[in-house]
Amino acid sequence: MSEIAKIELDGKTFEFPVIEGTENEKAIDISKLRDATGYITLDPGYKNTGATKSSITYLDGEKGILHYRGYSIEQLAEKASFIEVAYLLIYGNLPNQTDLDVFTNSITKHTLVHEDMKQFFEAYPAKAHPMGVLASMVCSLSTFYPESLDPNRSPEAKDLTILRLLAKLPTLAAWSYKNAMRHPFMYPKNDLDYCSNFLHMMFAMPTEDYTVDPVVSNALNKLLILHADHEQNCSTSTVRIVGSSQANLYASISAGISALWGPLHGGANQAVIEMLEQIHADGGDVDKWVTKAKDKEDPFRLMGFGHRVYKNFDPRATIIKKACDDVLEKMGINDPMLEIAKKLEKVALEDEYFKSRNLYPNVDFYSGIIYRALGIPTEMFTVMFAIGRLPGWIAQWKEMTENNEPIGRPRQIYTGATPREYVSIEKR
Ligand code: CMC
Repeated sequence: MSEIAKIELDGKTFEFPVIEGTENEKAIDISKLRDATGYITLDPGYKNTGATKSSITYLDGEKGILHYRGYSIEQLAEKASFIEVAYLLIYGNLPNQTDLDVFTNSITKHTLVHEDMKQFFEAYPAKAHPMGVLASMVCSLSTFYPESLDPNRSPEAKDLTILRLLAKLPTLAAWSYKNAMRHPFMYPKNDLDYCSNFLHMMFAMPTEDYTVDPVVSNALNKLLILHADHEQNCSTSTVRIVGSSQANLYASISAGISALWGPLHGGANQAVIEMLEQIHADGGDVDKWVTKAKDKEDPFRLMGFGHRVYKNFDPRATIIKKACDDVLEKMGINDPMLEIAKKLEKVALEDEYFKSRNLYPNVDFYSGIIYRALGIPTEMFTVMFAIGRLPGWIAQWKEMTENNEPIGRPRQIYTGATPREYVSIEKR
């Protein structure tokens, strides 16, 4: 017999179904709560609220488990290419060779962006943060493809928009960097794989030969896979909620990029490096900064520490920490930031404040150190996260539209003034 949850209100008992996911996660289905009782639930930050049923990503924060479509993040990061993972997330299964060739070729065909978009870049100040540029440019794509404004036109039209986004995001990202440097834009080189092509557009110059170092492109491939999806986080929920109004996919992804930018979410990778640099410049006294992080009067937090759902360890952080050691060793780099990060992690993990609150390094704690080693400038770190997260956002948006989910519209408990009469300005 299926389980039932009972709620007692005003002397009456109401019953609600309990639903269970394929990994035995349980939820009380309260979708009829207000109709039945007149009450709503209150859950700021949605800490206990399931917004949807999804078959894309499974995450167990207590056990440190992360699966994309049933495959463990450890196996995918070790064995797959980012494009394979993108296909897996968006279409539900790993591609066979023909699927992969068709998918890769289709993306390759769309890597160029319209020449008129170059003028937009030129209008930005050199100091423009690349996340601001990227969010605007992605939304601007909708103006070049007006047929995309109706997201439900046809499955073929939906797929074309998906391919265009996957193809053009690295070009727009690399060009936002080139523009900040006031260097000439490099066009995509379509005989290169996804990661190498991005590195080419970032680092090649028309005046010099540039060969992509396989250590660098393999490390980038792994980082992008680790970022590719993370179920209903802040930016993904943003994409789903914007998309639920039937806004087009470019607008929905642009909103996701903006949500990712904040330092409590994807922007943490930039904030971590800035924090490590600050600690380094201050003499490297890790204990002093851990004490600051614990002080409730001090706004300082240990960036790259803590997570809403991981309460034991973040499996992505474990993979990244190892990758960080490997990449730095292979590239012969000795980065003092890595030493500070390791000391900081050790001190924090032994400290009662962090232990009692289950605060552990998250995906962003070590990723910035790898990005630095790969030559990616600090302000581009969150852009790299956005490139990685794109297939996840797309998959979640596609699932939401295919399930015909209703428009997202939470309720509230009003705490403002009760009705009062308007008073003319002279009498106030
Ligand atoms: N440094 C010091 N104290 C912390 C930290 C931290 N990084 N994170 C949480 N705490 C404390 C917090 O002050 C609170 O203490 P108390 O119970 O005494 O009030 C307790 O731990 C619970 O924290 P919370 O802010 O209520 O937890 P949350 O689930 O709302 O926030 C978080 C999660 C990730 C926003 C938060 O841990 C944080 O701000 N971390 C630093 C930013 C960061 O690294 N973000 C990247 C997250 S992973 C990338 C991604 O977004 O996917």
